[in-house]
Amino acid sequence: MCGIVGYIGKKKAEPILINGLLRLEYRGYDSAGIATMEAEGIKTIKNKGRVAGLLEIPETQKLEGTVGIAHTRWATHGKPTDINSHPHMDNQKTTAVVHNGIIENYVELKKFLNDNGYEFLSQTDTEVIPNLIHYYYEREVEKNEMAFLRSMAKAVKDLKGSFAIEVLNEDFKDKMFVIRKDSPLVIGKGEGENYISSDIPAILSFTKDFYLLDDYEFAVLSKDNIEFYDLELSKIFKQPKNITWDMSAAEKGDYADFMLKEIFEQPKSIRETIGARITKGVKTNLEELDFTKEYLNSLDRIYIVACGTAMHAGLAVRKIIEKYCRIQTEVDIASEFRYRNPLVTEKSLCIFISQSGETADTIAALKLAKAKGAKTIAISNVIGSSITNEADYSLYTHAGPEIAVASTKAYTSQIVLLAIIAIYFAELLDVAHDEIEELKSEILELPSKVEEVLRDTSKIKAFANRIFTEKNAFFIGRGIDSSVAMEGALKLKEISYIHSEAYAAGELKHGPIALIENGVTVVGIMTDEDLAPKTVSNLQEVITRGAKTFIVTNQELEHVTFDEVIRIPRISKYISPVLSVIPLQLLAYYISKEKGLDVDKPRNLAKSVTVE
Ligand code: M6R
Repeated sequence: MCGIVGYIGKKKAEPILINGLLRLEYRGYDSAGIATMEAEGIKTIKNKGRVAGLLEIPETQKLEGTVGIAHTRWATHGKPTDINSHPHMDNQKTTAVVHNGIIENYVELKKFLNDNGYEFLSQTDTEVIPNLIHYYYEREVEKNEMAFLRSMAKAVKDLKGSFAIEVLNEDFKDKMFVIRKDSPLVIGKGEGENYISSDIPAILSFTKDFYLLDDYEFAVLSKDNIEFYDLELSKIFKQPKNITWDMSAAEKGDYADFMLKEIFEQPKSIRETIGARITKGVKTNLEELDFTKEYLNSLDRIYIVACGTAMHAGLAVRKIIEKYCRIQTEVDIASEFRYRNPLVTEKSLCIFISQSGETADTIAALKLAKAKGAKTIAISNVIGSSITNEADYSLYTHAGPEIAVASTKAYTSQIVLLAIIAIYFAELLDVAHDEIEELKSEILELPSKVEEVLRDTSKIKAFANRIFTEKNAFFIGRGIDSSVAMEGALKLKEISYIHSEAYAAGELKHGPIALIENGVTVVGIMTDEDLAPKTVSNLQEVITRGAKTFIVTNQELEHVTFDEVIRIPRISKYISPVLSVIPLQLLAYYISKEKGLDVDKPRNLAKSVTVE
């Protein structure tokens, strides 16, 4: 969950590295550091805290090197301190390493190295890496590039866990070495210069041509060249991919925060997700999938597995699949799924959703499903991400880079894409033709209806101003609305630090209602005309007990007075989460702003969770 960046070329590396780190800070912001190849050798500068802190250190400006690596950290092993910050060096200070991931067997490796005379300055798992490389390199007779690569390969073979590693070594002043396994790393190809990053947007202003490394692939970079090797050091050939995102997608533009920008981008991101995938009156053809009616009829179950917001997107679409395809569908939290010995068989279809495509639990759950013989589909927003490398089939949401830690546009795009997949299945199964055509029309109308929801946010802002000092909030809904309640509660807690819980509205009286007292905020979501009257009754029960109510609905609610009602356009209940979530995203956003918090980088969190 850290961010790494690297530069090799003719320019001074430091400003390029700092710029990259600032863009990767959403991945972790406990500490930051940089190492450049200077005339006198490798120079490292690092400190606890944000990347901006590096700029306050006078030595940073003095770095002249044109080759460098840098890191922004989300602490796992060892507290956020200067010493634990990356880059880490070997005892002889010849090799510098930055690392994103976790070395699970670092205790054992540390002991091995201790027994061989190595000492450790930090509490990190990473510090074993430069020392292990040094250990093997010392034993090479001839000190050349192949010998160094061989040492790296030996070191990497000893590592258990996940890693994206950048390495500088003093013997190779105009080279940079990288390797990855289960952690993201992209290589940007420039003219007379090359770049490394944990994600594409961080270096999109420098190049649009990228190489993606598979697990255990090495790259050796010089300013004019990039060579690729497998772990046995055989050369491999790779083609760069051209990324068509425009740079503004990764910039805040006129918005105060990425989260606000991403909320307002939803009409566009949903349009991109729909793309040419559905057309009224024409059978949906998902070019990524080659399923048949017979295959779908043979399925025993569909599993949708993900974490956090992506899991909520799965909950929101389960009912469409079950209603139209009549295939039993279960939604699981990846970290639970992988350890509960799920009843997945060769007849199961497992769909894994991950915006980043790097979430460790989701990837592990996918591997488990594959091992049990199921077919797997990955839904991701990041081209070439790890999950898409693992799955049998991959579909992209095409929502554009999502930078804010709190996921917004990825959620709505995931729902839209899953709904399209459900339609594709229903059409293959030849069921509910008219209803499916109607659903397609409604999906095509989503972008303009989202625009409508976003047109006036003043009531949401005013309500945020009223409740931002509160300590607790409850979100309730029934049916599909209860999954949106979960997403609303997650959004509020993660960026405003207000304790917020979601309940299926009917569950309130089985316990949670004991927490309702004068002034507590209860958010109600009602988009299902059959269930709305029942949720209204539950809301009346909390109003009687003094609750303040904030309602998101497209239903006519007569004879009840709520503190605030946000009206959203009418739409099929099956895709209503795409609209009903937006006022909840905005409510969380405005509350966080009122509290003066860092909306895009909430405490203790990171954008992609590459640890268990
Ligand atoms: O990248 P992923 O979609 O796999 O991420 C899953 C969760 O970590 C993520 O949705 C998280 O819950 C967000 N911070 C929620 O806003």
